[in-house]
Amino acid sequence: MFSRLSVSIAKQAGKNFSTTSQNNVKVAVAGASGGIGQPLSLLLKQSPLISELSLYDIVHTPGVAADLSHIDTPAKVLGFNGAENLETALKNADVVIIPAGVPRKPGMTRDDLFNTNAGIVRDLAVAISKVCPNALVGIITNPVNSCVPIASEVLKKAGTYDPNRIFGVSTLDVVRAQAFIGEATNTNPLDVKIPVIGGHSGVTILPVLSQSVPSVNFSQDKIKALTERIQEAGTEVVKAKAGAGSATLSMAYAGARFALSLVKALKGDPNVVECSYVRSDVTAATYFATPLKLGKNGVEKNLGLPKLNAFEQTLLEAAIPELQKNIKKGEDFVKNN
Ligand code: APR
Repeated sequence: MFSRLSVSIAKQAGKNFSTTSQNNVKVAVAGASGGIGQPLSLLLKQSPLISELSLYDIVHTPGVAADLSHIDTPAKVLGFNGAENLETALKNADVVIIPAGVPRKPGMTRDDLFNTNAGIVRDLAVAISKVCPNALVGIITNPVNSCVPIASEVLKKAGTYDPNRIFGVSTLDVVRAQAFIGEATNTNPLDVKIPVIGGHSGVTILPVLSQSVPSVNFSQDKIKALTERIQEAGTEVVKAKAGAGSATLSMAYAGARFALSLVKALKGDPNVVECSYVRSDVTAATYFATPLKLGKNGVEKNLGLPKLNAFEQTLLEAAIPELQKNIKKGEDFVKNN
């Protein structure tokens, strides 16, 4: 199951980085004992690019850290349990990845998680503002569309906000699109490149199939069905798990891909591009995922909207009001709490 990632990690390790590259990289995972947190931490521990892996959760972290620390890779693993240890866990982290929170059960939308997860993300952002204000932060906790504005508003209040450093991890939508297109075209999914823009729930997920490389030659019916499958792929997993949670393994894979892209960018790799949900002036929605060139300070350049065909334009029109509603909900939460 990890062979693909191992291959990509090996490729990353073999790249030549600039002479100004950062040698030591501390990555913190908040929510490290969970369904996503554990396999994500395992994949990060596999990477030779990370020197310190700091695992934080409110339960079980000592065990997860002890277990991972026996793996023969360089990253030093430390586990921190409970709110009183949060700031120590995050102190001076270069990258913080957040999968803390409750997952969906059948019949729930990502927005139904708001009440519980909003407070968790707010408290983690407060700690980040105090002990690692320069960290690149990747938020996995759903609803991502609202949690990124929540973290951003908290950091604004604290005076440490840098919009280039706060990311909603929408990589799983890209990974799914690559997997499904690979399957449908009989291509190695690792050779498929496709931008997925917008947000990270339902109609806000906008796979730009017209820009897929290699290009896809599907009927309009098939394009519509594939688009809807990518938008609802998370629900496919929630239903299949029948009450046991939402996507964890594929999310961990995608989260590790994104975290390692941030690490590569910190280390000076000049060619790191990922789609991610960030503060944006590309559309009328103030947060929006587009392809981003990543650098040592986070977003180096927003590569903007890919070219959209007429069908994708209608998807964009459907996505914007939903995103605006989700963004306002996050911002209002910080105003009122
Ligand atoms: N601080 C840190 N960790 C927390 C906190 C907190 N305040 N509250 C809960 N957690 C931890 C839990 O202890 C658990 O270990 O977050 C972890 C969540 O794990 P799971 O319940 O297994 O959920 P998971 O499937 O990993 O999903 C987590 O990511 O994709 C999203 O929608 C998903 O919002 C959900 C989150």
